[in-house]
Amino acid sequence: MDWGMRNRLARMFPGGDDGNTVMLAVDHGYFMGPTHRLEDARATLAPLLPHADAIALTRGILRTSVPPSSTTPVVLRVSGGATVLKDDLSHETITTAMRDAARLNVSAVALSVFVGAPHEHESLVNLSRLVDEGEEAGIPVMAITAVGKELEKRDARYLALACRVSAELGAHLVKTYYCDGFEKVVEGCPVPLVVAGGPKLDSDRSALELAHSAIAKGARGIDMGRNIWQSDHPVAMLRALRTIVHDQATVAGAMKLLERPEGRTPTAPTLRA
Ligand code: 5RP
Repeated sequence: MDWGMRNRLARMFPGGDDGNTVMLAVDHGYFMGPTHRLEDARATLAPLLPHADAIALTRGILRTSVPPSSTTPVVLRVSGGATVLKDDLSHETITTAMRDAARLNVSAVALSVFVGAPHEHESLVNLSRLVDEGEEAGIPVMAITAVGKELEKRDARYLALACRVSAELGAHLVKTYYCDGFEKVVEGCPVPLVVAGGPKLDSDRSALELAHSAIAKGARGIDMGRNIWQSDHPVAMLRALRTIVHDQATVAGAMKLLERPEGRTPTAPTLRA
């Protein structure tokens, strides 16, 4: 692996080769529109940026909502082309050129792969081509094992297959979901795995438990969105997650940061997702 790619990975995993990462996902608008509490991405992001090891977003939100002086590494979503208004979310293509990713000085690019979905083939070919371009540019590629609207697909057998296929096609890291039997997903995937949070859980504690279990079973970090910025205390939530991911905190220990929370994202009466 060339120095440029190693450097980009190291910036996202600040603890070194065995270190973990806390990525903040704010890329939901690319297919869900102005998601609840992410309507004003700039306002949502501003207090959270200093506490994230990386942010995951599209070029539109990066250019409009993140100050160029930011030093937080960027994971640029480069796939899209479908919205929640259609049933088949797997009909995606690559929407952002690698040279634009390089121009934006990103630390990685990310795309969804839809294993078992109608457009499985296209999404896997997208991944393979993106890896070729990423190798050339020195930019790591993160595959996201997307399930579209079929959240029930998130079981160990399916996710292990999707993660392994992504790694086999050259993904440098994979974002997936936590599930029962997650250790099987980790065991079969030779590149670092980070976990998404999925739709907002019933409590902040549940999201901390998810992160704790994922790290205990071998995830190298989280790439979480709604369970952070849809929390009533997003900054405290992100800081609590950091203690779990980076400092081996227990859930009870991390919850202490939510006892005296700071920062509340304004609520807007929009579509809940
Ligand atoms: C959207 C994504 C999200 O980045 C991913 O699902 C993480 O966000 P959340 O924790 O809200 O699920 O890939 O397509």
